[in-house]
Amino acid sequence: MKKLKFALIGCGRISANHLKALIDNYQDAELVSVSDLIKDKAKQRVNEYVSQAKDKNISFKKPKIFIDYKKMLQEEDIDVCSICTESGYHAEIALNCLTQKKHILVEKPMAMSLLDADRMIREAEKNKVKLSVCYQNRFNPTIQKLHQAIEEGRFGKIIAVTARVLWNRNKNYYNQAKWRGTWKLDGGCLMNQCTHNIDLLQWIIGEEIDTVFGQTGNYLHPYNETEDYGSIIVRFKNKAIGNIEGTVCVYPQNLEETLTILGEKGTVVIGGLALNKILVWDFTDNKDSLEEVQEECNLEIENIYGKGHSPLYNNFINSIKKDTIPLIDGYEGKKSLSIILMAYKSQKYSRVINYNEGLNISNEDFIGIF
Ligand SMILES: NC(=O)c1ccc[n+]([C@@H]2O[C@H](COP(=O)([O-])OP(=O)(O)OC[C@H]3O[C@@H](n4cnc5c(N)ncnc54)[C@H](O)[C@@H]3O)[C@@H](O)[C@H]2O)c1
Repeated sequence: MKKLKFALIGCGRISANHLKALIDNYQDAELVSVSDLIKDKAKQRVNEYVSQAKDKNISFKKPKIFIDYKKMLQEEDIDVCSICTESGYHAEIALNCLTQKKHILVEKPMAMSLLDADRMIREAEKNKVKLSVCYQNRFNPTIQKLHQAIEEGRFGKIIAVTARVLWNRNKNYYNQAKWRGTWKLDGGCLMNQCTHNIDLLQWIIGEEIDTVFGQTGNYLHPYNETEDYGSIIVRFKNKAIGNIEGTVCVYPQNLEETLTILGEKGTVVIGGLALNKILVWDFTDNKDSLEEVQEECNLEIENIYGKGHSPLYNNFINSIKKDTIPLIDGYEGKKSLSIILMAYKSQKYSRVINYNEGLNISNEDFIGIF
């Protein structure tokens, strides 16, 4: 099969990881065009792609540059669009691409409302193309090992999973771009920083959401519209409890990012900069030791984005080639979004939200909540 032709829409910070993933998957994929409203950003990514391809002796054509992604869709022969714009633009851009039968890889969160997430899922199905969401930490060797232990039933009954993201983000961080800390384009620390961990928590528990209770607030970031601290309790249909604590208020610097799983027959804690290190691994079956799994799975990484984009691209490319379901399809991508929006709704109305009543909500419903 010939290489899949990729286009990049949005050439900001995270797009560098998409470029690297395309280079790592060069046997099956090539970058044919890029677009950004700011032409220099698009040019920079093209230059990086060219130099990385040359360094690795990969044959390539120089990708074309566009400011208007709609023009790019009209003029270029594209199989897949990777959407890396501000979160609030994901749905509109994805829907435009899906109606033109492009496969879509969209950054997290997939959309800002469940209605939009559903539209994207429906449009992908209607046009018989694939849709996947960038929750790349699912591909960390640590998380894969944990998921394997779940699948093998090593935990027995799962009692609770706790996700903690205790970080520091100061004014300089929010000043980097106007969209950060807004309801329309970003969401708060739960939607932006914590979304990966919420995705992992629900994936590990692997059950439908029953109820959500959330308390959030803006304590130290008065220039933002959204929360800088959030605490969520999720009850799943199998009675397991998910505890989520996410904040960007930690003094004086990042403190912790961990995932703790308490099971009847096992306890695991995963930590590190991006859940790349196993800290505790204890099972009654004694099949493997902490040292063994650390040796097998711990990964050194350069930044909080980790190394998951390359295996995620590999999974997505294979799903297109073999017409299978990608690990994180639209339905999967929607689950963490549901939990976050239900938590916002719970905060707004000061009560527990049942899954069925939580469906018609959007990030924009929370403008002015604080
Ligand atoms: N998976 C991860 O770990 C991870 C990490 C960081 C960010 N993200 C997500 O990636 C997205 C982008 O974040 P970022 O930090 O790279 O943002 P950024 O502000 O650095 O980049 C966004 C870019 O999109 C461009 N853009 C906006 N509208 C466009 C359009 N219509 N056509 C073409 N380009 C357009 C902007 O000009 C900008 O260059 C967000 O949704 C964020 O949540 C994911």
